[in-house]
Amino acid sequence: MNTEEILENAQNAIAAARDEKTLDEVRVAYLGKKGELTVLLKGLGRLDPQERPKMGAAINQAKERLLALIGERKQALSDEHLQSVVEEEAVDVTLPGRSAGSGGLHPVTLALERIEDIFVGAGYEVVTGPEVEDDYHNFEALNLAENHPARAMHDTFYFGDGTLLRTHTSPVQVRTMETQDPPIRVICPGRVYRRDSDLTHTPMFHQVEGLVVDRGISFADLKGTVVDFVHRFFEKDLDVRFRPSYFPFTEPSAEVDVECVKCDGAGCRVCSHTGWLEVMGCGLVNPRVLEMSGIDPEEFSGFAFGFGGDRLAMLLYEIDDLRRLFENDLRFLRQFN
Ligand code: DAH
Repeated sequence: MNTEEILENAQNAIAAARDEKTLDEVRVAYLGKKGELTVLLKGLGRLDPQERPKMGAAINQAKERLLALIGERKQALSDEHLQSVVEEEAVDVTLPGRSAGSGGLHPVTLALERIEDIFVGAGYEVVTGPEVEDDYHNFEALNLAENHPARAMHDTFYFGDGTLLRTHTSPVQVRTMETQDPPIRVICPGRVYRRDSDLTHTPMFHQVEGLVVDRGISFADLKGTVVDFVHRFFEKDLDVRFRPSYFPFTEPSAEVDVECVKCDGAGCRVCSHTGWLEVMGCGLVNPRVLEMSGIDPEEFSGFAFGFGGDRLAMLLYEIDDLRRLFENDLRFLRQFN
């Protein structure tokens, strides 16, 4: 084969090489120790002396040409590779972004905030107290002396050192009266604890306590406040009734029933077919309670009320099972976002 034929074959092989390894094999095949051009070069000695320079020049030219072609091809292959990597790894900046999902408030928190808004709008202050209480504030100062039978209803968690987990938010009433002079207008939302756990009770739940103390506060003030609150909370002019009841810290005491929000009083599963929902306890602050906290019952009177925040949240958002509030099932919670 002459140099031209070799060159032509080599050019085809270079053009056909799809990767650097094949390209290198082509180089070895033509320019390596036993490569076709190398062999030709080595055979120069056997040629006629006159032909040697011409042939030698042709072989060297072919060799240089091949090296140049291999270099070009190598560069082209590496450019192609780079191009395909860039394409594969390209980021499509026109795609819509993935947003970090935003959290939402728990339905009980939403209900509590709604309650706070209503009372703050009426001039009340929101106050809080400790969840780990002492016996005095949780019971005694609320007219529940040591052997008072009503203590049995509270299923208290005791720590054994005189402290306990508060069973209601009423001790915040006491702490407020101890530190503030009338006029007092507060609500006290917070967690409370009882040793009780079944379909309709959880060991921790939420209460909101209300307390108003001033000169000349009467049961009429209490009724007006409760009825107005219920109407604002449910955004419905529901019927409200007060049933005589007993609490050691109020006298007289009442329990408040609201026309069933689900069936408008017709009777359904939610209201156990009575048409009414029991929503809170209330009454005029027992003069003994005022006195124990340093407020003169001859000069001042007050009303108080207490209700469950979880229960109101369930009625407002039509949640049928108390346990949903505490299971942290995101599919449930996301509905309130
Ligand atoms: N503390 C009561 C309870 O946990 C609720 C309550 C009833 C609070 C009557 C009051 C009230 O302030 O006047 O069952």
